[in-house]
Amino acid sequence: MKIDILTLFPEMFTPLQSSILKRATDNRILEINVINIRDFSLDKHKKCDDYPFGGGAGMLMTVQPLYDAIKSVKQENSKIVFPSPRGKTFNQKIAKDLSTFEHLIFVCGHYEGVDERIFQLYDIEEISIGDYVLTGGELPSMVIIDTLSRFIDGVISEESLLNESFSNGLLEYPQYTRPAEFMGLKVPEVLLSGNHQEVEKWRKEESLKITKKNRIDLL
Ligand SMILES: C[S@@+](CC[C@H](N)C(=O)[O-])C[C@H]1O[C@@H](n2cnc3c(N)ncnc32)[C@H](O)[C@@H]1O
Repeated sequence: MKIDILTLFPEMFTPLQSSILKRATDNRILEINVINIRDFSLDKHKKCDDYPFGGGAGMLMTVQPLYDAIKSVKQENSKIVFPSPRGKTFNQKIAKDLSTFEHLIFVCGHYEGVDERIFQLYDIEEISIGDYVLTGGELPSMVIIDTLSRFIDGVISEESLLNESFSNGLLEYPQYTRPAEFMGLKVPEVLLSGNHQEVEKWRKEESLKITKKNRIDLL
């Protein structure tokens, strides 16, 4: 999959160059390009924002640099995403759907947002990462990219996707690793028993318990 990220702040994307996403790009499963929208501004000072017509707080990103930046990367099969508090709320299903595209373009808003005409010029899906307001679309883009990447073949093991929160409508059960005892705290006996049926039963019960406690809405 190819992902182009359009932003006024390319330096914010260094976290994508480590850990699992680094391995995925090193292995050419993923190609991620970060493109500076400012490079497309026709303004002599490379300005990319202006005051909103009708008044109001803050600045808006202007439409021309955004339009040209998208045009420079858009192909026939591209899906364009604009992270925004106005969008539908992101979840595992949306991440899985996005992971099936060959080419994604993320457009990062900043300041008070963008000139609305960009949504008339291109078919753009707005996606929110939650009911709160961040300073820009850079962190939300990274959240969405990180999440959808996990669904791309070869990025993580299939087993990891099967047994985790939301995969079966529940939150994940508690997990433990060595040592079997730490500061007097012992790992639940059943996990050391080698009885796979009992382990599965215990995990299901614990999943239900934690889902009831933290996310009753999922049940
Ligand atoms: C300060 S916000 C603008 C908020 C906008 N004035 C509003 O009230 O909806 C600047 C940018 O951050 C991004 N952003 C902020 N909160 C977000 C969220 N919850 N989900 C996704 N993107 C968000 C969007 O790209 C947005 O254009």
